[in-house]
Amino acid sequence: MLDFNHVPFVHPRTFRPLMAKGAANDPRVPADLPPVTTAALHELSYASETPLQIQPRPWHALVERFGDADVYYNHFLYPNVNFISVGGYVFLVQQFDPVSPDRTDVHFTLCAARATQRIPALPAILWGHLKGEKRVLDEDRVILEAMQRGLHEGGPVARHGA
Ligand SMILES: [Fe+2]
Repeated sequence: MLDFNHVPFVHPRTFRPLMAKGAANDPRVPADLPPVTTAALHELSYASETPLQIQPRPWHALVERFGDADVYYNHFLYPNVNFISVGGYVFLVQQFDPVSPDRTDVHFTLCAARATQRIPALPAILWGHLKGEKRVLDEDRVILEAMQRGLHEGGPVARHGA
């Protein structure tokens, strides 16, 4: 998490309630660190695992879960792809394609862990999950566009929730 204010301020009703107590408020990047000026290309892609309260669902017993940890896996693939898994049950690729300065096309691709038997409700399950992801994206979009309007040469480091 590059900005420890992100989850508490941007996702107070979606992500925040599912996170382990204190996990969203961990300031891993103190505000007084100097800005990063250079980085190797491979350093711009990285993975993280955030503890998450996975809501148990009946269909979870019908799939081969990846791993056994209640975590939110996030692989940030520079420059524009996030590969996410919610507890090893749902997998999501988020792709952000900048089209012009004021437009980005966003592609979400979802699937569930491999089913051990046919799950008739799976399309509805994934549709519900996709709607949740869209809600989170909309929360991000509103605050990031507002922050973007305030950015300028020589300005202070922008912090979500500031
Ligand atoms: Fe976000």
